[in-house]
Amino acid sequence: MEKLVITGPSRLSGEVSISGAKNSVLAILSGTLLVNGVCRIENIPDISDVDVIIDIIKSLGAKVSRPDSHSVLVDSTVIASTAPDYELVRRIRGSYYLIGSLLSRFHKAEIAMPGGCNFGTRPIDQHIKGFKALGASVDDSRGVIKAEASHLSGANIYLDKVSVGATINIMLASCLADGVTVIENAAREPHIVDMANFLNAMGANIRGAGTNTVKIKGVKEMRGGSYQIIPDQIEAGTFMIAAAATGGDVLIKNVIPKHMESLTAKLIEVGAKVTELDDAIRVEGTDHLRATNVLTMPYPGFPTDLQPQMVALLTKAQGVSVMVEGVWDNRFQYTDELIRMGAKINAAGKMATIESVPELYGAPVKATDLRGGAAVVIAGLMASGITEVTNTVFIDRGYERFEDKLRSLGAKIERVEE
Ligand code: EPZ
Repeated sequence: MEKLVITGPSRLSGEVSISGAKNSVLAILSGTLLVNGVCRIENIPDISDVDVIIDIIKSLGAKVSRPDSHSVLVDSTVIASTAPDYELVRRIRGSYYLIGSLLSRFHKAEIAMPGGCNFGTRPIDQHIKGFKALGASVDDSRGVIKAEASHLSGANIYLDKVSVGATINIMLASCLADGVTVIENAAREPHIVDMANFLNAMGANIRGAGTNTVKIKGVKEMRGGSYQIIPDQIEAGTFMIAAAATGGDVLIKNVIPKHMESLTAKLIEVGAKVTELDDAIRVEGTDHLRATNVLTMPYPGFPTDLQPQMVALLTKAQGVSVMVEGVWDNRFQYTDELIRMGAKINAAGKMATIESVPELYGAPVKATDLRGGAAVVIAGLMASGITEVTNTVFIDRGYERFEDKLRSLGAKIERVEE
């Protein structure tokens, strides 16, 4: 077991480059199963969730090679199984995308209920509603989802809840269906657009991604090609928050500034200076952060996946801040760890009230989940003394070389064996 040891406080400064988007890559690698040919994917982030999804698609028969740590070639011409290994699938949430791909191309899929971070119940009823509308029968009893169809036909599907996963899964399932599928009340996250661009590059016909109506005209076959994944909006946001929270001055390179607008607005509100460049953002912090209120929402709202990191920053923002979690039922587990470091946070249900403290103190803490892990690391950079973060496996699921990138910005952070 490993842990991160941080000696704070640090003022981050310098330049950092953002990796490819985790939540795109999981969907895109699953989407390669739709393709009767070879896909070359570039800008793959080197994170453990990618290793898991690659192991899964290999186990189904796809031939996968990695010419370098940021490129993957997948040849899905021959797929031998539509029932991926139970234990592998349960390790990542993104494995539910295999259902859409396998159902679309082979008309059947059998996979375990997906795993992932625990934020309360994580239903997939909207995915299932979509598959059924396309003509599949779906049985999700006993922890396994079995989907089958003799034929898939385009349909109009209205999502009762804006869901990233359901939007992408229905896009996948309908790529090879007969006729036109229309998804209404679709999610609009940057990785929805990335996914549609990837599928179109492989031969699909998808329009409207990035708006709340996505139209998919089924095609007979997808033949392969090359695609480059967009930069990770959440990794970029994590570094922006870390720069502001430590009173630092960081140039965050390889980002799409438009994707960061909700965070940029909040960082300016709390007193940071944010300068948008073509494909970079400079964040200059201040020693006098001010409190603010934040509500997380689907894109273009403030992302739930930056909620914990923002709360870490707000622990020292003068005054009382309120964070309302508008997406997940239970995403404040990590606040107990910040409280160990001296933060004053009262979290109940979907709301947390954060009263500023003059200082945080280093303490032994754990990553409760991926973004909660990033939040305690940021708090460790803000705190005086030594913070030890255990459960680093959560952080490694979604951040490429997190401590190396922070160290290059001047942080005193080491990974050691426990
Ligand atoms: C994706 O999860 C991301 N995961 C999450 O990122 C992210 O927090 C979330 O989108 C919201 O942006 C991946 O891409 C692998 P949803 P997803 O379906 O697709 C409800 C991270 O830290 N809902 O948009 O599973 C659901 O309960 C991770 O990188 C239904 O009710 O999220 C939630 O309240 C964690 N029925 C809301 O919708 C459904 O069928 C949004 O969920 C589906 C979802």
